[in-house]
Parts: sequence; structure tokens; C-alpha cells
Amino acid sequence: MNIVAGSYIALLTMGLAFFSFPAGGIGSGRAEKDRPAAVLDTASMLVEAGRLLFHAQELSKDGELACGTCHIPAQHFQDGYQTGLARFRKLIRNTPTLLNVNRYRSFFWDGRATTLHDQITEPLIKSQVEMMSNDSIMASYVRSVGLLDSTARRLGYAEQDAREFVIGALERYLLSIATERTRYHDHLAGTAKLTAAELRGLRLFNGKAQCGTCHPAPDFTDNLYQDNALSRQRSIVESYREQGVVKTRLGMDYGRGNIVAGKRDLFRFRTPSLYNVELTAPYMHNGSLATLEAVIDFYDRGGDEPLAGAKPLDLTKAEKRDLIAFLKTLTDIRYATPEKGSTEVRVQNSKF
Ligand code: HEC
Ligand code: HEC
Repeated sequence: MNIVAGSYIALLTMGLAFFSFPAGGIGSGRAEKDRPAAVLDTASMLVEAGRLLFHAQELSKDGELACGTCHIPAQHFQDGYQTGLARFRKLIRNTPTLLNVNRYRSFFWDGRATTLHDQITEPLIKSQVEMMSNDSIMASYVRSVGLLDSTARRLGYAEQDAREFVIGALERYLLSIATERTRYHDHLAGTAKLTAAELRGLRLFNGKAQCGTCHPAPDFTDNLYQDNALSRQRSIVESYREQGVVKTRLGMDYGRGNIVAGKRDLFRFRTPSLYNVELTAPYMHNGSLATLEAVIDFYDRGGDEPLAGAKPLDLTKAEKRDLIAFLKTLTDIRYATPEKGSTEVRVQNSKF
């Protein structure tokens, strides 16, 4: 199949409309505590509104889907499926955690949104398989739960600005759940010591195993598009309903190559940050690797795609264990929970 035509179909089937790419990135949520009190107040009102909106199925056209349906707080803001599920239909890509969103300069596995605002617009409004919200749904929901009077007006949003208020609040909420408290952070601050195994893992990460070339500190992503030698196998690129039956079509997911013309970007994906990676299996854009052990074995054998030209790493069993021990120091302790879905987890995460 011709690549341009293939990309076009892939784009359509991902539920995309046309995208604009305004200049500039997102505002970082990190400097929140440095702001004057009045501004902080406004910011936290927006975060609180965003938290509510994130879980509001009422924002979706059929009242059944919310951001939190797929990005489940008790599951570290992902869903644990190989690829996402919407309206009983499989999406073509793995649902990423939202805990690292403040680290990215572009969003989605292929980076097709350059601002968080544009990213949110897709599941909320543009995608034909997700929430399918619109101005009047948003305005009436915001009014019905009292957010219009309590928050939106106070922050200067006019009634007809419900859409911008909803997107702005969701954006502030996503930036508020940033990963900032890991053992790795404590290690840098000198307030905790990593174990000998974790320190060996850190050295391997930046040395023999070469992970740091694409996943460099402090964000553990280079924010670039890379081919990490994942198998270029055919996968579901389209899923649609015909006479009540869900049908699928197989094809290649070209990743960044769907967005940018030319061959250079084919099969490249935005390098994901590795914060909280202990908690967010399965891995990769297609969820094809089930465990961290499988990920390390994958890199160790030089990946699965000969055309990518990656070399085996020749790691010993002990080195693989050390690497994993290091990766686990990147878990935000506020989100680390031993038993997924337990009551304790739900209580703990209700704060987020
Ligand atoms: C039906 C499941 C589903 C729903 C509903 C959903 N998402 Fe997602 N989300 C996904 C999947 C799958 C991706 C990855 C898609 C891709 O990269 O092509 C994603 C990607 C994202 C990303 C990009 C993260 C990154 O690492 O670049 C953000 C941010 C996000 N979603 C926020 C939201 C918000 C906010 C809402 C509600 C307005 C929402 N999502 C609703 C499944 C969902
Ligand atoms: C050539 C650049 C490159 C190198 C080197 C690299 N990675 Fe990656 N990594 C990526 C890209 C790109 C992805 C996403 C690929 C995809 O989904 O198709 C990724 C994905 C991952 C994921 C899955 C994350 C998730 O949320 O699903 C993990 C874990 C990971 N890498 C760990 C490592 C480790 C450990 C090393 C060293 C052994 C390493 N990476 C080396 C570029 C790289």
C-alpha cells in the first residue's frame, strides 16, 4: 500500500479531524508554589474544577465515557489494557499514564498534538469514537453542577466560553498530578540513599545499556521521535461497526510517519518518560510487552526489528535485575500502591 494513502487512512481511523500546530509548548506546572497567593488560589480552583470534569461522563455525548474511564486514577491514570477500549471497540494504541504529562513537549504516542489544549480537544470533542462532546453539552453540564457561577465566572470565563473553561480546567488538573516525589528525586536531593543494586542499575542505564541516550534525566525522555526496534508487525489500524458488528482492519502503525511526510519518521514514536513505569504495564504504543522483564529482554536482544539496526546489549541476568531495580526508583511514592484496585488504593487515589 502506498504510504501516503496508508497514513491518511490511519489518521482517519484514529478518529482525527484536522490538526493545527500552534507554536509553543505547555506551561509547566512545576512552579506552582512560587506564585503569589491570589494566583495560586485561582489555579487551585481550576485544578479542583478539572478533577470533577475529568470524571464527568455527562460531558460525553451518550453520557457513558469520561477521561477517567480510560485514565483510571486507581490504575495510575491508565487502564491496564493492551490497547484502549471505547464504546466496546478497541482503540489502536495503549492508553498512556497521565502522570508524566508535564514532561512532554508533544502529546500522544506520535506527538500529533503540540499543546495540551489541542490534545484534550481530541478525546473530548474531535474523535468520533470517544466522548464526542460539544459546546452545548459542556455549557449545560458546567451550569448544572454550579461550576459556572462558583468558578468559571469568577475566573473571567463568559457563559459561551464553557469549552475553553472545561479544557483549561482539565489542563490544570493534568499538570497538577505531575510526578515529583520519587526515590530518585530523594537520592538527588541527598535525603535518601539508593541501594547498591539500584546504583549499579543507574550506571548501566547511562552506560552499557544505553537507555539514557533516548531516555535522559531529568525527564527520562528526549522528547524526540525514535525507532526503538519494536517489531513492525501488522496490527489493528481500524475498528468500525458495520450492521451492529465490530470489524477490524489490519495494517501498519507508522507512528510519527502518520503525521510527517517522508520516510525518515516512519515507525518512530515519541520517547515516553520512564517515571512510574513500574506501575504502567503493558508497555509500548501497542502494549505488546507485558512486563518490565520483557522490555529489558527486548532491548537486550537488540529489539525485534532487524531493519532498525539496533545491536544486542549482552546484559547478564544480574545486570538486568539491577536495571529494573533502578527503574523502580522512578515511581512516585504518592501513586505507588501494592494492590491495584484495593480499597486502600481507591481511598488514596481519591485525592487525585
Ligand atoms: C476511550 C479511552 C480514552 C478516553 C475516554 C480518553 N483517553 Fe486520553 N488517551 C487514550 C489513548 C488510547 C491515548 C493514546 C492515543 C494515541 O497516542 O494515539 C490517550 C492519550 C492521552 C494523552 C496523551 C498522553 C501522552 O503521553 O502524550 C492525554 C494527555 C490524554 N489522553 C488525556 C485525556 C483527557 C483529558 C481525556 C478526557 C477529555 C481523555 N484523555 C479521554 C484513551 C482515552
Ligand atoms: C533509540 C532510542 C531508545 C533507546 C536507546 C531506549 N529506548 Fe526505551 N523507548 C524508546 C521509544 C521510542 C519508546 C516507545 C516505542 C513505541 O512504543 O513504539 C520506548 C519505550 C520504552 C518503554 C515503555 C514505556 C511505556 O510507557 O510503555 C520502556 C520501559 C523503555 N523504553 C525503557 C528503556 C530502557 C530500560 C532502555 C535501555 C535498555 C531503553 N528504553 C532504551 C526509545 C528508546
